[in-house]
Amino acid sequence: MKIKRLTCVVACLCGLTIALAQTPALIPLPASIEKGQGSFCFKAKTKVWVDAYPGDSVQMVWNRFASDLKASTGIKCGMAKAGKADIRLEVDGQMGPEAYSLDITTRRVHIRAAKPAGFFYALQTLKQLLPSRAVMARVKDEIVKAWTLPATIITYQPRFGWRGFMLDEGRHFFGKEEIKKLLDVMAAYKLNRFHWHLTEDQGWRLEIKKYPRLTEVGAWRESKVLGWGDTKPDGLHYGGFYTHEDAREIVAYARERFIEIVPEVDIPGHSQAAVASYPEFLSCDPQNHHEVWLWQGVSGDVINVSNPRAVAFAKDVVDELIDIFPFGYIHLGGDECPTNKWEANADCQKQLAEIGSTNYRDLQINFYRQLQDHIAQKPKAEQRKLIFWNEVLHGNTAPLGKDITIMAWVGADAAAKDAAERGLYTILTPQIPYYINRRQSDLPTEPRSQGYGTETVEAVYNYAPMNGIAENLQAKYMGVQANFWTEWVEDASTVQYLMFPRLAAVAEAGWTPQSLRHYPDFLQRLQAEPAYYDWRGVNYGKHVFPQK
Ligand code: ACM
Repeated sequence: MKIKRLTCVVACLCGLTIALAQTPALIPLPASIEKGQGSFCFKAKTKVWVDAYPGDSVQMVWNRFASDLKASTGIKCGMAKAGKADIRLEVDGQMGPEAYSLDITTRRVHIRAAKPAGFFYALQTLKQLLPSRAVMARVKDEIVKAWTLPATIITYQPRFGWRGFMLDEGRHFFGKEEIKKLLDVMAAYKLNRFHWHLTEDQGWRLEIKKYPRLTEVGAWRESKVLGWGDTKPDGLHYGGFYTHEDAREIVAYARERFIEIVPEVDIPGHSQAAVASYPEFLSCDPQNHHEVWLWQGVSGDVINVSNPRAVAFAKDVVDELIDIFPFGYIHLGGDECPTNKWEANADCQKQLAEIGSTNYRDLQINFYRQLQDHIAQKPKAEQRKLIFWNEVLHGNTAPLGKDITIMAWVGADAAAKDAAERGLYTILTPQIPYYINRRQSDLPTEPRSQGYGTETVEAVYNYAPMNGIAENLQAKYMGVQANFWTEWVEDASTVQYLMFPRLAAVAEAGWTPQSLRHYPDFLQRLQAEPAYYDWRGVNYGKHVFPQK
């Protein structure tokens, strides 16, 4: 009863209220935010005008927002002529590809952007400004009666073009609906790259039509738990994989949220599941038994890169990736690839001599170069750029040219700088503190995972990307990414618990100028996030939310 009366009063004052004293709790923080007086109120007949754009794609972005608004609030917006509209979406070609401005007064809302992505982000911000995060989650809110937006002028321009999140589904498999949830939260934080780590020693998770055993054999193992020390494999038959159709469904879902998917097939290391599926041509010792791995760690059972059939296999896999994922990049892994089996193999020894090197890492680079040449022969629409983990810098990267990207994780700052100095692109994903599967506090309530609880929300927030990097190298720094490895994490709820709210901290590093980033301010704005997590039904670490 009390709530009803209060919302009624708010509704009556709509348009007259004095702006709240506090700055809106936006994450990521915009580059510029000016508070005005009063608020704009959605009416039953709010009228909208949308500028023309090729393929009607700005209209499509608006339609999706309007549909979410209606589902949560019952408000149905109609279209109107420019002069009569309460909300205007205007194309301004001068702005950056993801930038936007949002000008809210008591009488109207004016959004400007150059591209559909900018309008999408503007409307995501609009959802954050509404009195309930239910709209962001597309859930009906029965309590709020006045759907208002504080009068504000906001301009946003992301600091980095690459703002990513990686999930390892090789170790544990979560399935389509969980991925969609994560994509939703990524979109709420205006992240734009989902790096999907689809293969591991412990599981191959993507159907490859030309090699059915990858999922008949490689997607399954005889333990859910991955053994480590005293933790022994549990003998459960466990696994799963995505069909082409599943993956295409995820691609479409991500595209609607302006997220590009970067599929990763980690080869030639971390490939024991593939080797177990086709030992006859992928293994360095096919006479021996090979199985999908039941343990954590780094397996030595790597692909025999000197076997032409293994190279042909990798080319075929790349072809199917290109067919499913219509985006610019493919990640071929390259981390933690022991060379012992190559060193003991006569064909590998011979190939190393042929390429004129004594460094076995160069065999790995030679393998990648053949895949790169294969892609280069394709029509333009099927071209893809390659990403590798930073261990490839231990070899001579020159044969791969300059148009590759190094994802810097171990010794990340130094590795990224090394890459940039070689003229290569780089993405910062420092293990400490951007591996957000690591424990985020030392509280006994923390779930089992890696680390000592020192990758706190604050530590993640305070990492300063590209710190002290000379101006002439900065153009090589594409952005930032949080990674989530799942050796210890077996269910989606624990993934979410560890991932949130730390993902919000990484998103802010991707968007907000370093000079505006201050942890106490972030922590204060963060207090609004549990409402969204609760509406969307995702778990999160509670320790930084005293109200919870
Ligand atoms: C990695 O953490 N092995 C990339």
